[in-house]
Amino acid sequence: MNYKKVNILLKIGQISDIHIGEDESLVQDIDVRKNFLDALNSDSMQELDLLVLSGDLANENAEPGAYKFIADQIKLLKCPVCIIPGNHDDIDVMAKYFDIPVKNGKCYYRFDLQGKSIFFLDSACGEVSRDQLDWLESEIPKVDGEVILFMHHPPCFCDHKFMDLHYHLKNMVEVRNVLSKFKNLKHVFCGHYHCEFEVMFKDITVHVAPATQMQIAPDRPYFKLKSDKPGWQVIKWGENSVETKVHF
Ligand SMILES: [Fe+2]
Repeated sequence: MNYKKVNILLKIGQISDIHIGEDESLVQDIDVRKNFLDALNSDSMQELDLLVLSGDLANENAEPGAYKFIADQIKLLKCPVCIIPGNHDDIDVMAKYFDIPVKNGKCYYRFDLQGKSIFFLDSACGEVSRDQLDWLESEIPKVDGEVILFMHHPPCFCDHKFMDLHYHLKNMVEVRNVLSKFKNLKHVFCGHYHCEFEVMFKDITVHVAPATQMQIAPDRPYFKLKSDKPGWQVIKWGENSVETKVHF
């Protein structure tokens, strides 16, 4: 019997680096709550199969008011929401507002959706722990088809002079050595850099999403605001195809 192969298409919205504060005060003169809502409610983010919040939900130091605001917004959505922490988050505080798995003091997990497997890592402390890399090495080979991975920090330099210099992933070589082992991992999705990039290592493409808080100029080694407009990423994942589009 012949079966017609169906090209399953998942539409995933990625919002990163929201940096919401404890209350409605502006953050560096930016209305970050409005920026987040502009991304969430944009035409491009309708009819999602999954929304991913890829870290730095809170502005500075895991402000509970930030998590409450975001939790109140996403509970209205019809699609599932996957969340990982960034370097300004705290998973113990986040766990009071979001249904996130915490094991060994970290938030890392696999989420299966419509027959596809999506992996999430916790790099909030600036590196990916050996526990998580060991877990990836045991879990990803169990999946027959292609997988994708989300983590807050890019596992590579991005030619962003400020972020590469001050805030790069500390153990990126160790992480890349592990990620390079998987034949069925070709796309990694990150945030953290407050600037959009597509960078390749081996045959893996790293898609770095812009922030909804603000964009940071990549061409100088000190902080310079590039834009206070929110940015986000939409990912369409079919059989052997991944399309991404960054929106502002
Ligand atoms: Fe950030």
